[in-house]
Amino acid sequence: MTISTHIAGYGAYLPSKILTNRDLESIIDTSDAWIQSRTGIKQRHIAADTEATSDLATAAAHKALERAEWQPQDVDMIIVATTTPDYTFPATATRVQDKLKAGSAIAFDVQAVCAGFVHALAVCSSMMKDGMAEKALVIGAETFSRILDWSDRSTCVLFGDGAGALALQAKQNNPEGAGIIKTLLRAQGTDFRSLYVDGGASTNGKIGHLRMDGKDVFKKAVTRLADISQELLDQQGLDAQDIDWFIPHQANQRIVDALGRKLRIPAAKIATTIASHANTSAASIPLVIDSYGQQGHLKPGQLLLMQALGGGISWGACLVRY
Ligand code: COA
Repeated sequence: MTISTHIAGYGAYLPSKILTNRDLESIIDTSDAWIQSRTGIKQRHIAADTEATSDLATAAAHKALERAEWQPQDVDMIIVATTTPDYTFPATATRVQDKLKAGSAIAFDVQAVCAGFVHALAVCSSMMKDGMAEKALVIGAETFSRILDWSDRSTCVLFGDGAGALALQAKQNNPEGAGIIKTLLRAQGTDFRSLYVDGGASTNGKIGHLRMDGKDVFKKAVTRLADISQELLDQQGLDAQDIDWFIPHQANQRIVDALGRKLRIPAAKIATTIASHANTSAASIPLVIDSYGQQGHLKPGQLLLMQALGGGISWGACLVRY
């Protein structure tokens, strides 16, 4: 008996406050032209002071439940990929379980920064194969606005807040071959100064701010994500032409374009929301799935290639038959 993990629903939540590049011009020394030409970003959503990461995650989860036609109590596992948790502990996923009234579903967080969502998909798929859960919510949710140094123009213009959720169902002996096919994950801890937050409970006791060597991260993102994606395709005996939708982490349009060129994936098959969402870290991939799903672009049987890289440096790629 083989068990596979299927996408049964998707949902998203974006805070109502929109901060445009023009708005940023009045806060820091930047310009709409610079931000757009270097990153492709036009605007980002910012959580209200009263909104915590679990609120964003819960709102996205409700939408995914609705689309899957599940009740909260049907869910037996909630995984939240986040690096901006509500509290140092407990896991934000337990706050989501409580807010959803999802009984005593397994609930824990995965922390792999921008690569968190692909890590969470891998964990969910493995646990489903082990029979530990049948109906899960895997949520990417972030309030990065809270860890940005709003006086550092080289980082604060790049990120936004939001949440995306997938309802994932374990199916036995699935004849259509749909579901999560394979995930590859990597980390290189020696690179940690390239992208990190200068705070933490066991270092200086502060929440800290995001610090980044943008050029270094840019180069590493292009080479490592191209390599891991090619390795995944080769392992599965697939070619880039077999991919219906390339769903990269939404960090920078120039990174995405470079990856498309390296992997020989045409622009028409590359899903992007970076212009309107900016980089929402672990939330970016499920936000793209929600956006492209709602527009009717995602069809059963299509092959999706997701990939992401972030602080750690951690990265990964995941192949899914929709
Ligand atoms: N507005 C205007 N000018 C800015 C600016 C901003 N928001 N941010 C930086 N600059 C300036 C710099 O100060 C520098 O000025 P100088 O030449 O006078 O010193 C100039 O623009 C060029 O800076 P540089 O860092 O060389 O730009 P870049 O082309 O590398 O682009 C990033 C910077 C951050 C956009 C780019 O490196 C990047 O996107 N890296 C990847 C980051 C990322 O995606 N991280 C998350 C991964 S999960």
